[in-house]
Amino acid sequence: MSKLIVANWKSHKNVQTAAEWLAAFKPKAAVTAGLTVAIAPPFPLLAQVQQALKSLTNVELAIQDISPFPPGAYTGAVSTENLTGFDVKYALVGHSERRRYLAETNQDVANKVELALSAGITPIVCVDKDYIRSQAASIKEEFLTQVIVAYEPLEAIGSGLEEPIETVTKIVAEIHKVFGEVRVIYGGSVSAGNIAQYLAETDGALVATHSLDATDFMAVLTAAG
Ligand code: PGA
Repeated sequence: MSKLIVANWKSHKNVQTAAEWLAAFKPKAAVTAGLTVAIAPPFPLLAQVQQALKSLTNVELAIQDISPFPPGAYTGAVSTENLTGFDVKYALVGHSERRRYLAETNQDVANKVELALSAGITPIVCVDKDYIRSQAASIKEEFLTQVIVAYEPLEAIGSGLEEPIETVTKIVAEIHKVFGEVRVIYGGSVSAGNIAQYLAETDGALVATHSLDATDFMAVLTAAG
């Protein structure tokens, strides 16, 4: 299976800067042929990114979050119904920033997993090394193997600190013990300079800082290919 590289724009960009990024993002077909690339823009830019991605092969749409509730009276929450027609392939759930700043709980994550799957969206469950078992605990057994897991050590996120590859190998094995045979990707200061070593031990990468500039992100993809 091809490696999955997800660009997480977090709360960066607007209509203008997203348009500039999309105009500059011209990865070589030979590069994307060996990869699955997904872009996770902020929600207001979803339609714009979706439109631009139509002309690219192997580049898909992802979202940074999804409502833990079904469609209904939940002001401000983006439900699976709101996403119909966008052809969203992946949803990040339980990112450490959401757990930390937006009080996302393990039960929220479990609800999001279930709702995403029911809409045909593959959840990418973010976990940190010391909490894998507890962060997975609320997810129903039958759904555990239907997710992708992102191993994201807190100290490596946005810091430039490189997680030692031996630790990544060890944590990937622990994730398999808890989740079963799932795809595991790595996130935390992934760049063109280090992605190859992480991909040797995982099924892909979650890239934020080095996805914000289109040229930088294309260099990451070239190094990954
Ligand atoms: P980073 O963030 O690439 O800026 O380290 C990774 C993430 O938070 O997904």
